[in-house]
Amino acid sequence: MTSQTSMRHRFLLTTFFLILSLGLGLAFAESLPEGISSPPQQAARLTSDDPFTTMMQVLTHKRCVNCHPNGDRPRQGEDSHYHNFNVQRGPDDHGVAGLQCSTCHQAENNDYAGVPGAPEWSLAPLEMYWEGLSRVEIARSMMDPARNGGRNLEETVKHLTEHKLVLWAWEPGVDAAGRPREVPPVPLEEYIQAVKAWAAAGAVIPES
Ligand code: HEC
Ligand code: HEC
Repeated sequence: MTSQTSMRHRFLLTTFFLILSLGLGLAFAESLPEGISSPPQQAARLTSDDPFTTMMQVLTHKRCVNCHPNGDRPRQGEDSHYHNFNVQRGPDDHGVAGLQCSTCHQAENNDYAGVPGAPEWSLAPLEMYWEGLSRVEIARSMMDPARNGGRNLEETVKHLTEHKLVLWAWEPGVDAAGRPREVPPVPLEEYIQAVKAWAAAGAVIPES
């Protein structure tokens, strides 16, 4: 064989395998049983050595902000649309009489019905709203005892790293269409380390 024919040969072989694997991939994707789709998507991420940046990539994510809205209605989904059924916060952030959060949301996800769940599922009080705030504004709100439920730094760190409603964001279940909800861009362990490192270094909030 001349080198030219051998190259042509290799090209044809490669093309053949490419088409074959593409075909297999498609066949496999199509044969997935209904209701089971791809694994949870992770939001795009900016890798940084700065613990504040790492931490705030989580706090600004919709899995948190959907439940910390600026108003009386929770938000849903990847596009943060208003919660359906016109759900309202009600007098104590647990919904209105007849339409309490716990009517639908249980202590864990219900992936058959696509309803997310975690203990104490309710709307963050209005003074704890994060929707529409920059990362710096969220951090300031979180550190302000008048807006954070009177927490000191230690209590805030505990909430950020241990509270079930926070941890839920890494196991958010699937939506009503069976699609996995997106998880925050930073893996849980790395986020916890970043929160602790930021607090240990004095909980400094940068200018921007
Ligand atoms: C299902 C709704 C819900 C979700 C989802 C949720 N929160 Fe909250 N959050 C609340 C409620 C309710 C409170 C008030 C709890 C209290 O004061 O005891 C709260 C309070 C907080 C507080 C303390 C108040 C403050 O402003 O410092 C922090 C911090 C917080 N959430 C962080 C987060 C983070 C981070 C996420 C996402 C990883 C998240 N939350 C997701 C409902 C939610
Ligand atoms: C009538 C049933 C029902 C009631 C009542 C209800 N929810 Fe929901 N909620 C749902 C369903 C179903 C979904 C999932 C929608 C989807 O993702 O397809 C959902 C999704 C959510 C989400 C979106 C999570 C995310 O990040 O996508 C939040 C936040 C939420 N609910 C908060 C609340 C709060 C707070 C209350 C009470 C004030 C409440 N819900 C009352 C049924 C309900």
